[in-house]
Amino acid sequence: MPPPSTSAPDVSRSRATDSRFRCIACGDASDTATRDFRCPHCGDLLEIVYPAWSPSPAIPGSGPAATVASELKSTWQQRRLSLDPVDLSGVWRFRELLPFVSDDAVITLREGNTPLYDLPHCARITGVPRLFAKHQGLNPTGSFKDTGMTVAATFARLAGFRWVACASTGNTSASMAAYAARGGLRSLVLVPEGKISWSKLSQSLDYGAVTCQLRTDFDGCLRLLQELVLRAPVYQLNSINPFRLEGQKTLALELLEQLDWQPPDHIIVPGGNLGNSSAIGKALLEMRALGLISRLPKLSVIQAEGANALVRTLRETGGKHLVTVQAETRATAIRIGNPASWKKAVHVLEATGGLCEQVTEIEIAQAKAEIGAEGIGCEPASAVTLAGLKKLVKSGFVKPEESAVLVLTGNLLKDPDFTMEFHRGDLFKHSVIKDSGDGDSSAALNSLRRPPIVLDATLDAVIRTLKQAEK
Ligand code: F0G
Repeated sequence: MPPPSTSAPDVSRSRATDSRFRCIACGDASDTATRDFRCPHCGDLLEIVYPAWSPSPAIPGSGPAATVASELKSTWQQRRLSLDPVDLSGVWRFRELLPFVSDDAVITLREGNTPLYDLPHCARITGVPRLFAKHQGLNPTGSFKDTGMTVAATFARLAGFRWVACASTGNTSASMAAYAARGGLRSLVLVPEGKISWSKLSQSLDYGAVTCQLRTDFDGCLRLLQELVLRAPVYQLNSINPFRLEGQKTLALELLEQLDWQPPDHIIVPGGNLGNSSAIGKALLEMRALGLISRLPKLSVIQAEGANALVRTLRETGGKHLVTVQAETRATAIRIGNPASWKKAVHVLEATGGLCEQVTEIEIAQAKAEIGAEGIGCEPASAVTLAGLKKLVKSGFVKPEESAVLVLTGNLLKDPDFTMEFHRGDLFKHSVIKDSGDGDSSAALNSLRRPPIVLDATLDAVIRTLKQAEK
């Protein structure tokens, strides 16, 4: 490792990043990590840091930081014209801000490169005209997990592991199985039985993972995995693994590039195990330190009311101690009661000035249908962002003249059961979660429902239906 310097990375030295692991609690730094990615001294989580960047005097618009920032921006822009697989990846295109690896070691499915959409319909509903969606559901396996998995799977293979493993609510496992298959690795998936969608489960089967449905919840799966990695030679690919978060940082880089490096006022992200919010926040802080942006967007996290560990942690302990919950929500991707990265998330919320809010099942269902009505669609966990934005506008935290970006984390096709049940009016029928009976929300839901219509195969029947729909 070259000695630390006080300047930002030198982009003329290609792939000059030089990273270390650092404990988020005691600050102990090391070149290697233990198998469970926990600090050997205090047991807390590790993060990846780049000593060559810090202390980094962020002097936006002038001096060496500004030169480096503009060089980085132009390098990343130029790579858009390249046909090299690492340049075609929307993650590795930003490799100066990732741990170093040689190009030929990278496992990639051309992840990232996801669109930023405007949301005119949702903008009208929320009263926030400058409203956008960064659709991470358009990644190769249909969720944001791919951006982290390309990095972590690459490092798993480099470390010489044959097996990778994760606990999952379905998207991590789908992504891990795909990247393992691409990289010639075997994969072991631990998912809670009956609590993840068939679409996600079918992905890990098709990609060849050994898939175990455990009679527990996600938190139970993760607990078991953490014991397993200490006993068996498997490399853990949950977001406790800090390489995952480095890859997921690129969402923020790509977003800011799409906004011509003009930060939005707000970025709103769903919260489950809290890895993604931590990664986005880390990216924002690094971007500011490197002079890539001059001010920080406020990063806010939205949770389902039935899986609101971070909301309670902040409200009841001021972010000092984790309040765990018995999680229950139809947004199964975020059905998590004991989030591993809660401390990292508290840190980035505090650092960016964002909030944590919770939304009900009805609010999630309504928001999901409203995003669907934009022709975009997402899975239920992603829709918490729109539902949360409505609350943040109501409380005055988001102002109509401000801009906001919703991070849509998963594809609509990830959970077709939820969508079918919603449109058929069955969503809350067999659930422990009941419709609150609130007349207004029921009317709003009904106006969004488009149940499939079974007809005789006659022209008359179809024309009658068309006329009916016109009314
Ligand atoms: N949205 C979707 C679609 C997810 O799959 C997840 C997490 C989240 C949001 C929350 O992200 O955990 O980083 O706060 N899914 C994990 C999984 C837990 O196993 O697929 P987070």
